[in-house]
Amino acid sequence: MVQNAVTISLGIAILRIGVSPINVKLELSNLKNLLMTVKHLKILHQHSQVISKDGNDVIEGLIKSPKSLPPKYFYDDRGSELFEQICDLPEYYPTRTEASILGQYADEIAAITGSCELVELGSGSSTKTNYLLNAYQKISHNTSIAEAFSYIPIDVSGGILKTSVLHLQQKYPDLTIAGLIGTYEEALLYLDKNHQRSRMIFFLGSSIGNFNAAESDEFLGKVSHALTKGDYFLLGVDLQKSTEVLEDAYNDAQGITAAFNLNMLSHLNWRFQGDFDCNLFEHKAIYNQVDHQIEMYLYAKSKHEVSLDILDLKVQFETGERILTEISRKFNLEDLQLQLRSQGLQTVKFWTDPQQLFGLILCQVKY
Ligand SMILES: C[S@@+](CC[C@H](N)C(=O)[O-])C[C@H]1O[C@@H](n2cnc3c(N)ncnc32)[C@H](O)[C@@H]1O
Repeated sequence: MVQNAVTISLGIAILRIGVSPINVKLELSNLKNLLMTVKHLKILHQHSQVISKDGNDVIEGLIKSPKSLPPKYFYDDRGSELFEQICDLPEYYPTRTEASILGQYADEIAAITGSCELVELGSGSSTKTNYLLNAYQKISHNTSIAEAFSYIPIDVSGGILKTSVLHLQQKYPDLTIAGLIGTYEEALLYLDKNHQRSRMIFFLGSSIGNFNAAESDEFLGKVSHALTKGDYFLLGVDLQKSTEVLEDAYNDAQGITAAFNLNMLSHLNWRFQGDFDCNLFEHKAIYNQVDHQIEMYLYAKSKHEVSLDILDLKVQFETGERILTEISRKFNLEDLQLQLRSQGLQTVKFWTDPQQLFGLILCQVKY
């Protein structure tokens, strides 16, 4: 956990494996833990200055009414572990459905784009990515070494990124992997627009649904900016469906999603010296049929005060008052393609599962 806190607060760290070693003078002994297993580590301090001071978004969210918190705070090591458990829940159809689409169409995606630099935003365990890596490996075996593909996984959760990079390096010893620990915004800003090879950025798990309409426009604009003419963007999205299926998926019978939601408070406690009592909050996810989005809340069970010392913040909660911790928008494929096009991302092809639960859209930058 401590390791995670250190890497995140530094901004972007790059774990380079399979490329030439970079000597880095480490300024923080806390990073030793990370270095024990990952040899080549580079910290890009200059990129941290473009983000707001760590925790400002927490203050902003908790002093306003109604209260909210950014979903990125779900993901410390424990949060990432819980998310992996959510992916295996019987009610949580998105992960296995998206995996089945990727399993069926990864070869076709690789054939359309050709060998390229693969950049994954919010890669987590990179489990589903294996379908793409296998497909690209097949086509790169048929081309010259100079055209071999590379993989850049990006995630704010340093622990899971480290584990997945090490695992992938063992599984694909010839693959060049360069992991970036940081936020989507930091990474998109860092990625060189003038890359030598063609690039495909991909964003799976319907994480784009965590942005509201205006935020997703801004996000897609940044994706578009990190690409050049002819590059690709592959987007996995959860589609609109019945309230019952959706609410079951986010209020599972085993209570794993509840633990995941409540873990955000524990994360804030260790990261900002807080005293949230998780027993005083309750998880509930509701489908908002007007806005087509799941809204995940933590409800205060009683009136009480919470302190976050590092942020110099005291927050009052009334009984029944709620914090919005996540929206998860559910999409209509036609509308989404219009939005993508307005950001210069033209649909090449899209795929869904037979029940049309989930969609995968491949777009290309045309201009
Ligand atoms: C819903 S999970 C999806 C993981 C994986 N892509 C999948 O489809 O199963 C979201 C992932 O994005 C990461 N993440 C969340 N917010 C982020 C942010 N603002 N910047 C970078 N990564 C973020 C989390 O740590 C987590 O691994």
